[in-house]
Amino acid sequence: MMKSKQSLFLAQKKILKDAGCEDYNKSTKLLFSTAFKIPLAQSYEYHTYVGSNKNSRLFMDLVSRRAVGEPISHIVNSKAFWKNDFYIDETVLDPRPESELIIDITKDLLFDGMRVLDLGCGSGCIGISLYKENPNISLFLADYSKQALRISKKNAAELKTECELIHSFLFANISGKFDLIVTNLPYISKGDFFFLQKEIILYEPHEALYGGVSGLDAIKLFLSAVGRYLNENGVFVIEFGKGQDLLLKKELLKVNFGNFEFYQDFNKVKRLVCVKKDT
Ligand SMILES: C[S@@+](CC[C@H](N)C(=O)[O-])C[C@H]1O[C@@H](n2cnc3c(N)ncnc32)[C@H](O)[C@@H]1O
Repeated sequence: MMKSKQSLFLAQKKILKDAGCEDYNKSTKLLFSTAFKIPLAQSYEYHTYVGSNKNSRLFMDLVSRRAVGEPISHIVNSKAFWKNDFYIDETVLDPRPESELIIDITKDLLFDGMRVLDLGCGSGCIGISLYKENPNISLFLADYSKQALRISKKNAAELKTECELIHSFLFANISGKFDLIVTNLPYISKGDFFFLQKEIILYEPHEALYGGVSGLDAIKLFLSAVGRYLNENGVFVIEFGKGQDLLLKKELLKVNFGNFEFYQDFNKVKRLVCVKKDT
C-alpha cells in the first residue's frame, strides 16, 4: 500500500536532505511535479493531488537518482537559460548562468541579416537565445560533438529557430565570414579539473570542459584562425575561466587583436572578452 502523497513527499525530501543535496527542497518539488505531471507552481499542493502508484514509484526513482548526485537538469531533461528552457541530457554541458552574459552584451549588436556563428554550441543555448532576440539573423551552430548537434537540433526545432547545424572541429568545416562569432569552448585547466565538483566530473561531458594544461588549448587554436572568418567590423566574444584574463590578453595581442574589452560576470569575475576586428 502506497503512503499518502504528503508523507511520501516529506519522506523523499528527507532522503535528499540526508544525502547532502543542497537544494533538497527545490529538487523535491521539481521531481514531484515531474513525476505527477503537474505544474511546478502547484507542487506544494501535494496532499490534494491524486496520482497513481506508478507516479509515486517514478517520484521515488527520480529522487534516488538525485540523491546520488545526478544533476536535476539531467533528471528532468531541462535547464532554463536566458528566456527559455532547453532540453539537456548527459551528452551536453548544462548551460551556466554565467554564459548569459554573452547574450547580454551582444543582443544590442544584432541586426537583420547578420551572420552569427556559435562555435562549440553544445545545447545551442547561446546561439538560439540570440536568435530569439532577433529572428532576422542568419544563425549557424557548430560543434565537433555529433551528440551535441543532435541536442541543438532538437532545441532549435522546439524553440522555432531557423539555423544551419555544422559538424566541425573548430573552423575545419566552416565556410564564409561572419559578423559575430560567439564561443564558449572548454577552458578548465589541468590543475582546476580535479577540483571540480563531483557532480560535474561524474555527469558532464569532459570534452566540453577540459581545455588542456593551461585551459586555453582550444581557445588558442580558435584565436589563430578566427580573423579569417570575420567580416570587416566583425566581432567575436569568448567566454573563459576565472583568472585566465591576463593569459588571454597576451594571446590576443600575440595574434594582433588589440581592440577588446573584458566583462565581469555577476560574481565580479572577468568572464568574457569582446573583440573587434580592426579594419
Ligand atoms: C563549455 S561547452 C559549451 C556549450 C554551450 N555553448 C554552452 O555554453 O552551454 C563547449 C562545447 O564546445 C565543444 N567543443 C569542444 N572542443 C571543440 C572543438 N575543437 N571544435 C568544436 N567544438 C568543440 C564541445 O563539444 C562542447 O559542446
